[in-house]
Amino acid sequence: MLRITLDVCASALLVLGVLASDNGLARVPQMGWDNWNAFGCDVSEDLLLGTAEKIVQLGLQDVGYHYVILDDCWSAGRDDNDTLVADSEKFPNGMAHVADRMHDLGLGFGMYSSAGAMTCARYAGSLGFEEKDAQTFASWGVDYLKYDNCYNEGQTGDPLTTFNRYKIMADALNATGRPILYGMCNWGEDSPWKWAQTIANSWRMSGDIFDTYNHEDVRCPCSGDEGINCALPGFHCSMANILNKVAPFVDKGNPGAWNDLDMLEIGNGGMTDTEYKLHFTMWSAIKSPLIMGNDIRSMDAPSLSILLHAPILALSQDPDSTPAYRRWRHRNAPAHGAGPNETQLWTQSLSGGDRAIFLLNLGDENATLSTSLADIFFDSGGARSDEAQMNWDVFDLWANRMSNEVAGQVVEANSTRGVNITSTYFNATEMSWADGLAANDSRLIGQWVGQMTAGMDWEVEVEPHGAMAYRLRSVGGTSRKRDEL
Ligand code: GAL
Repeated sequence: MLRITLDVCASALLVLGVLASDNGLARVPQMGWDNWNAFGCDVSEDLLLGTAEKIVQLGLQDVGYHYVILDDCWSAGRDDNDTLVADSEKFPNGMAHVADRMHDLGLGFGMYSSAGAMTCARYAGSLGFEEKDAQTFASWGVDYLKYDNCYNEGQTGDPLTTFNRYKIMADALNATGRPILYGMCNWGEDSPWKWAQTIANSWRMSGDIFDTYNHEDVRCPCSGDEGINCALPGFHCSMANILNKVAPFVDKGNPGAWNDLDMLEIGNGGMTDTEYKLHFTMWSAIKSPLIMGNDIRSMDAPSLSILLHAPILALSQDPDSTPAYRRWRHRNAPAHGAGPNETQLWTQSLSGGDRAIFLLNLGDENATLSTSLADIFFDSGGARSDEAQMNWDVFDLWANRMSNEVAGQVVEANSTRGVNITSTYFNATEMSWADGLAANDSRLIGQWVGQMTAGMDWEVEVEPHGAMAYRLRSVGGTSRKRDEL
């Protein structure tokens, strides 16, 4: 029955000739897991199915992680009919079997290919075979395509050439009649944030992330304000590098079409807990897809408590929030990545008139950061704005993180059931993000830590490489104007 409904919807979309970003998918940023960051080419049916089961058992599915994405290195080439064939050693039961098992668990299945003659690891690519491959993916029951950029045979270098190459696959996916989320992965080449919204659900805006906080590396040559005109995306990009690179064009992400800051590194061991919290906070606030990249089968407690943290996930999954943007950056910075004394303020508009703020200390020493309502509401007129005259309750978004003890119990029990997690764990299948936020659910809005009023400075000490994240909620409603106060 469900299947019939899906097919009918998809056919209707097809008749209307809709664009990929109108395929009804990724209205909020997609969430899931991809094997690449932790496993590279070491892929198998066992890995995918074992991970999928854990995603369900550890409560990750119920906070929104949905797609299990198989990355590069899965194929054995093409058969006599030019149809892609799965490597039978890695996938002895074929891809449709993997997809079926994912669907049985209520998860979506993601697949990988490249808009080139070969994938980046030199397996068969889809350039010239787009329709055939889209049909193959659909016949296997694939729900998501990550589409890379290697070996594109020179069909790159200007926006229209790249747009046209990626549009062929967008059209081919739509023509299958199956809703397939389309994640472009051309590393920001030819500035996809300027043109990909009508064909893709997301686009990578940088070279590959590397599990490091702020590492200068010539293989990721562009950073910060230079990122806009970056001709060579490179790889080995640090988290701070990507954060600064996306800052000028965060607003290009919209429902159905998002800037993809690349997969999460939480749990992979290259950053500290503080740095991983910053990573998770900003990827959520900027509304990047949230694709876990660690070994879920050997999840540790601190990583789980970050990945499940609802007050931050609510920034991403709030249907009415917009991507956070950087209000200011104070720095004593080198050309690449973040500077030794760098601090930043980011703000995000949330549903119901709430506002999130993020005070970042990207430097190496403790720093006291300060902001005010005039600063936060600069765009609306600063000190003269209505918002700056209102009183705002301030909620700390990290104060009520699940303890290591409780997260450890979930890992140990292999289940969220039977563990006392009700004060910190938000099951988004029982109540939607929108309803939870409207109901002031404390698991979503964070812990009250004070009030901001007109003219007051909000000062806080932030540890190195750390972020203080707050939700501001106006006291007495969002429509109060100056003369009502
Ligand atoms: C890169 C891509 C990575 C991964 C890899 C596989 O181009 O950015 O995320 O998919 O290829 O070879």
